[in-house]
Amino acid sequence: MSTPHPVITIDGPAASGKSSIARLVAQRLGYTYVNTGNMYRAMTWAVLKSDVDPNDADAVRNAAAGIVLESPVVEGKTQVCIAAHTLTDAELNSDPVNRAVSLVARVPEVRERLVAEQRALIAIGPLVMEGRDIGSVVFPHSPHKIYVDASEEVRASRRGAQGHADQIAERDRLDKQRKNSPLVIPDGATVIDNSHITLDQAVEQVIAALRLQ
Ligand code: DC
Repeated sequence: MSTPHPVITIDGPAASGKSSIARLVAQRLGYTYVNTGNMYRAMTWAVLKSDVDPNDADAVRNAAAGIVLESPVVEGKTQVCIAAHTLTDAELNSDPVNRAVSLVARVPEVRERLVAEQRALIAIGPLVMEGRDIGSVVFPHSPHKIYVDASEEVRASRRGAQGHADQIAERDRLDKQRKNSPLVIPDGATVIDNSHITLDQAVEQVIAALRLQ
């Protein structure tokens, strides 16, 4: 199943550097940048706001069914709005959201909703979309797949430098072991380990691997 516009899929674990790389690749190519982690984070923020225990999958499913999420494009990237409120970086990256997001993201109905939303974004035009299941589930037929990795030590220190103390190892464990759309290296993806290269070098490697022309 081909898409009307190219979509570059960038997957990888928490704090692997995939967001910075994806944003710069999108800027270089003039494509719209979509951070799907922020959609799961926005859902989690809304679920927590309605006082639902994120460990209770039934309660999460019920709460999520009533949440209205939109992804308008502003200055080349998608934002996430819940009931017309645009979520701030502070809200998306708060400690409670960091702790709960993998629990909310493993609920199948939440994933179905957000995957449908992500697929619909292709109507906008060419995309760089990053997440955990973009090359494996959301756009499995894209010929442009990247998997960004970095060592656990490097990822933990990057997360710390961003001022967050969340347990990325625990988040990775939940993301890799969940039944529904776990984090995997998608078939056909080019793996780029950026533990010991600069951001610019990583972007160059992605552009070279894509062979878009
Ligand atoms: O990319 P991120 O760390 O902001 O993502 C936050 C969480 O959202 C991550 O721990 C798992 C979930 N996620 C997902 O399950 N599928 C995606 N496509 C993107 C994120």
